[in-house]
Amino acid sequence: MEAVKAPRGTRDILGGESWKWAYVTQKCREVADDYGYKEVYLPIFEHTELFCRGVGETTDVVEKEMYTFTDKGGRSITLRPELTASMVRSYLENEMGKGAQPAKLWSIGPMFRYERPQKGRYRQFVQMDIEALGAQDAFVDLEVIDFSMELYRRLGLSNLQVILNSVGCPKCRPVYRKALQEYLRPRYDELCDTCKSRYDRNPLRILDCKSPICKEVTEGAPSVMEYLCDECKEHFEQLRRGLDRIGATVVLDKRLVRGLDYYTKTAYEIQSGDLGSQNAVCGGGRYDNLAEAIGGPHVPGVGFASGLERVIITMEAQGCSFGRKPETKAYVVAAEPSARIEAAALARELRMHRISADLDYMGRGMKGQMKSAGNTANYACILGASELEKGVVTVKDMSAGTQEELTTEQLINKLKAQQ
Ligand code: HAM
Repeated sequence: MEAVKAPRGTRDILGGESWKWAYVTQKCREVADDYGYKEVYLPIFEHTELFCRGVGETTDVVEKEMYTFTDKGGRSITLRPELTASMVRSYLENEMGKGAQPAKLWSIGPMFRYERPQKGRYRQFVQMDIEALGAQDAFVDLEVIDFSMELYRRLGLSNLQVILNSVGCPKCRPVYRKALQEYLRPRYDELCDTCKSRYDRNPLRILDCKSPICKEVTEGAPSVMEYLCDECKEHFEQLRRGLDRIGATVVLDKRLVRGLDYYTKTAYEIQSGDLGSQNAVCGGGRYDNLAEAIGGPHVPGVGFASGLERVIITMEAQGCSFGRKPETKAYVVAAEPSARIEAAALARELRMHRISADLDYMGRGMKGQMKSAGNTANYACILGASELEKGVVTVKDMSAGTQEELTTEQLINKLKAQQ
């Protein structure tokens, strides 16, 4: 019988890689602190209705990609495909509107989407997500975009492009939608099947179809910019001036509409030239009507989410540093079986002093233990009958090959001084 394998689109992040994740997570936490965002832990599953109403019935995420099941109580439950709807739900449920505004929240954790797996695209993936809830101000949009750029700057990423657009609001978008449909009508038959089905339900999505024919058909389509109402125009201009002021280079792209229905005004993505077709390291924007869509009052909001797998792939491709790889400092070697108990006690003492230490549990002889020490640690700390008698440890520097006898206290001081 073949051993059970992990489901398609999931990955095990093992010790050779997990320290990189810890590094990136730490940087996320640092930037969040500096920008005043508070970490929240939200449920991994929610009522299916939250995403249907929040993310939108006509999105790929809701139509095709959700992991939905009925629980034992007969409720329809969905593994979260994204965090924004949950963040807004949490804001409403916990009455954050009564606290300081905007409420600035961030979270990190796994998301689930039934997509076709490929490089940078998984069925379970990790997002770092920030949301600022309760403010209309374009300077909050500026802060959110700046946050993402600053995070990537601190991670050492380069070769990134910030793509910006405005998708209007319920006042101006219907007018644009109609103009776009009118433009597309004469060439409707040329559109791909997916875009044909989008024509009535969600024509703006036709603009970011990857099919070359749809791209060609939409080439001369009217731009949303020409249809923005005064309020959306002013909001966009303010954001652009702010981005200019902080020296951010952005590319305006009228085709950027994003795959989720809740966006109003600002929509943006940061793309990497080192990722292949799944090139968005993050995406976000403003969603002033999401709270109402899920049954709450009007709560404007803006945020972004970044896929950490894609961030790490890009960092690796660009040779970015992940800080110091955790290493075992000391490997305690018992020269004979009777010294094992003292070896265990020494390892414990080192660890209590925050010195990473390990020892053998496989019954290896002295030679085998020295080999393990050479493979895994900087120093072998050898304890045998003569060391125990003298009250010392023989400490061998595994790279230099030198060795010396030290008391436990001297050993601790020596190794701590190196940290
Ligand atoms: P999204 O564009 O669907 O937006 O996802 C954001 C980021 O998550 C993407 O740019 C990508 O880095 C990563 N991502 C998405 N799907 C996958 C996947 N299957 N495998 C690996 N990484 C993936 C949202 O989720 C919105 N909630 C963002 C937002 C926050 N908007 C406002 N606030």
